[in-house]
Amino acid sequence: MAKARTLFVCTECGGSSPKWVGQCPDCGRWNTLEETLEAPRTRAVGWAGEAPRLVAEVESDSEARWPTGIGELDRVLGGGLVPGSVTLIGGDPGIGKSTLLLQAAVRLAGSLPALYVTGEESLRQVGMRARRIGMQEGSLKLLAETNIERILAQADTVRPRVMVVDSIQTMHTDALQSAPGAVAQLRESSARLVRYAKQGGPAVFLVGHVTKDGAIAGPRVLEHMVDAVLYFESDVGSRFRIIRAVKNRFGAANEIGVFAMTGQGLREVPNPSSIFLSGHDGAVSGSAIMVAREGSRPLLVEVQALVDESHSGHPRRVSVGLDANRLALLLAVTHRHAGIAMYDQDVFVNVVGGVRIVETAADLPMVLAALGSLRDRPLETGLVSFGEVGLAGEIRPVPYGEERLREAAKHGFRRAIVPAANAPRGRLEGLEVVPVRRLGEAIEAAFG
Ligand code: TYD
Ligand code: MG
Repeated sequence: MAKARTLFVCTECGGSSPKWVGQCPDCGRWNTLEETLEAPRTRAVGWAGEAPRLVAEVESDSEARWPTGIGELDRVLGGGLVPGSVTLIGGDPGIGKSTLLLQAAVRLAGSLPALYVTGEESLRQVGMRARRIGMQEGSLKLLAETNIERILAQADTVRPRVMVVDSIQTMHTDALQSAPGAVAQLRESSARLVRYAKQGGPAVFLVGHVTKDGAIAGPRVLEHMVDAVLYFESDVGSRFRIIRAVKNRFGAANEIGVFAMTGQGLREVPNPSSIFLSGHDGAVSGSAIMVAREGSRPLLVEVQALVDESHSGHPRRVSVGLDANRLALLLAVTHRHAGIAMYDQDVFVNVVGGVRIVETAADLPMVLAALGSLRDRPLETGLVSFGEVGLAGEIRPVPYGEERLREAAKHGFRRAIVPAANAPRGRLEGLEVVPVRRLGEAIEAAFG
C-alpha cells in the first residue's frame, strides 16, 4: 500500500507546507504548523453516496447495552457500554484509570471477547495488577503494543467486542512522522481507532492523561471525536474516586459514579450520600452541610470556609471544588444585602472529599460557612442548607428540593434552611424545614 502523504498545516490560517518550518509561509506566525494527513484528491465520479432516510426507518439500537458488571461505571455510561462506542477516560496519573478499566475488561471478558492493549506497562505489570485485584482468571487478552496499525491487525484476528487502549498518549501511527504524544499523533491515532470502532469494530475505551490545567493533554482535541468523556475527580490523599461524564452521547452528562480505592482495586460506593462529610465530632466554625445533587442522586457534602484578616491590598478568594467567580459574587451580595463586609479578609472555601459542586444550590451553604468562620460561630449540628442566592439578595429555589430534604431527613439531620419555594407541602419526619426568602432571613435563621 502506498504510504499516505503528510502535510504540515498552519493552525492559525490553514496554510500548508510539505515540510515542517518554524514560520508559516502564509501568515508568518511562528510554531503553528502541525502534521496532518493529506486528504485524497480524487473522488469516485458518479457515486452520490447513500440516499437520506426517514427517522422512522432508521433502526434504533438504544436497547443494546453491555453491562460492565460495575454498577457505578454503568451508571456513568448511561446504563452500560454501547456496542461500537468510543469512551475517553481522563484523569491524573495514578488516580486509577488503568485499575478501573482492567476490572471492567476482565468482567466484560466473561461474556464477550475483550482485548486490553497497554502501551505504558509491560504484560507482567498488568498481570501482577490483575492478580492483585483478584482477577487473574478469565478470558481477557492482553497486548503490549503502541503502534496503531499493529494493534488493528491484532484486533482483526482476535475480533474483540471490547478493546481498552491504555493510554492514547503512548500510541502512534506509521502514517505520521511526529513523535508519539504529539498532538497530530494523538489526533490521528484516535481517529483511526474511532473509525475502526464505527465500522463494526469493538467498543473502545481510550485512557488519556490529564495535564496540570485539567485538560486532557493535547488541547482537548479528542473530546469531540469520541462518544463519551469521563473524568476522574479526587482530592489528594482521599481514597474516594469520582468519575463524572462530562459528555455522553448515550446518557446524561454530569452523571457521577463513586468508588473507593482499596488494596484490591476500586470498590464501588453505591450509596455515596454521606461519605463526603468530614465527620468531626463537635460543631466547628466555618463548616456547613449541604444537600447537593450531582448527576441523578442527592449527595450530602460539607462546604468549609476559612475567613481570615488579609495582610495584602488584594485579599485572596480561593475556592476548591466550587466556582471562584461565584464566591466573589456571593461576598458582594452578602456585603450589599446583609451588611457584612469581608473586603479586608482572605476567604478560602473548599468542598470536603474532592467532589466538585457545579450547581448554585451551594450558594447559601457557602455564605453560611464563610460567616461562621468570620464570626467564629459554629452552625448547630444537624443543620443542612441549600439554595441559590440572587444578586438582589433573594434566596431562589433549586431543582429537586423535596428529594434533597428527604435525603437529609434520612441521614438524621434535624433542621434545614431552604428557599421558601422549595419548602415541602407536607411534613417530613424528624426534619424541621425553615423556609427563607431573603439572605438576611437565612443568616438570622442560622446564627440567631
Ligand atoms: P492506576 O490504575 O495505575 O492509575 P492510572 O492508570 O490512572 O495512572 O492506579 C495506580 C494507583 O492505585 C497506585 O498509586 C496504586 C493504587 N492501587 C491501589 O491502591 N490498589 C490496587 O488494588 C491497585 C491495583 C492500585
Ligand atoms: Mg495507567
